[in-house]
Amino acid sequence: MKGIVLAGGAGSRLHPITQAVSKQLLPVYDKPMVYYPLSVLMLAGIREILLITTPHDRPQFERLLGDGGQWGCEIEYAEQPSPDGLAQAFLIGAEFLDGQPSALVLGDNIFYGHGLGGELQQSVARIDEAGGCVLFGYRVADPERYGVAVIDADGVLVDIEEKPEKPRSNLAITGLYFYDGRASEFAAGLRPSPRGELEITDLNRRYLAEGTAELVDLGRGTAWLDTGTHESLLDAAHFVQVLQNRQGIAIACLEEVALHRGYIDADRVLEIADGMGRSTYADYLRKVADAHLGGES
Ligand code: DAU
Repeated sequence: MKGIVLAGGAGSRLHPITQAVSKQLLPVYDKPMVYYPLSVLMLAGIREILLITTPHDRPQFERLLGDGGQWGCEIEYAEQPSPDGLAQAFLIGAEFLDGQPSALVLGDNIFYGHGLGGELQQSVARIDEAGGCVLFGYRVADPERYGVAVIDADGVLVDIEEKPEKPRSNLAITGLYFYDGRASEFAAGLRPSPRGELEITDLNRRYLAEGTAELVDLGRGTAWLDTGTHESLLDAAHFVQVLQNRQGIAIACLEEVALHRGYIDADRVLEIADGMGRSTYADYLRKVADAHLGGES
């Protein structure tokens, strides 16, 4: 399975901080925002990744992430000149995907939770075996801001509505989507919505209409954090800070994920740490590598 990180958009809700810097490069405590969604794809076992961003922001992403080889991944880049909708990712990424199954994650979505890696790998397996799409629902206090899942008494997904005025549930559809190899083909058949965007909700409804869309309820054990406003961005940073400092383990440390998944070895982690100098992130990498080497001996 291949992965797409969509990291375009104007970030206008966070102006002026996003006037010169891409929203998805803003710090969330100790690392750039895009690390968090990237870690999700890597946890799912996805190593071939396309990062889509604006022509203006592309060089900074390339400077930060390179070709992904340092994490045992392959990162390619593509441009979305204007924010014409999330489903456009599958038109821009059609050649990259080449008809293969894929996961799309929004570059500003942060997920963290016990058992998340297993849940993600199950979703990959489900797509490989049965096709269709897998969406993730998360209970929120303000569902009208999101795509909203409508479920029946048995918890089966029966409809999806984009930012409904009167939400029929409080289950928001998060910005992480798994699709079979037809996503680009289906996206090509979409028409822009009244707000002028190719809506991911319309792509999901296409799968729903043929009965192949599955909703996974992320439940209480997982955090899905918003970064859409100044308050929620600060809350997300505090969340990461509190958990990391209390537990002594990092959220979305890409080198750690790559090491544990066997994409790179501990010596590589130490090399990366040395290249980073004296940051606390580098100190953490040394700790992770040492623990791994200790465990191996
Ligand atoms: O976060 C989950 C929600 O994301 C879903 O529940 C909604 O169904 C989905 O439409 C989307 O809603 P948002 O209102 O959050 O979408 P927004 O326009 O803010 O875009 C989300 C991110 O994707 C944001 O960081 C900008 C980026 N983006 C957006 C568009 C429309 C792009 O890179 N390209 C685009 O064309």
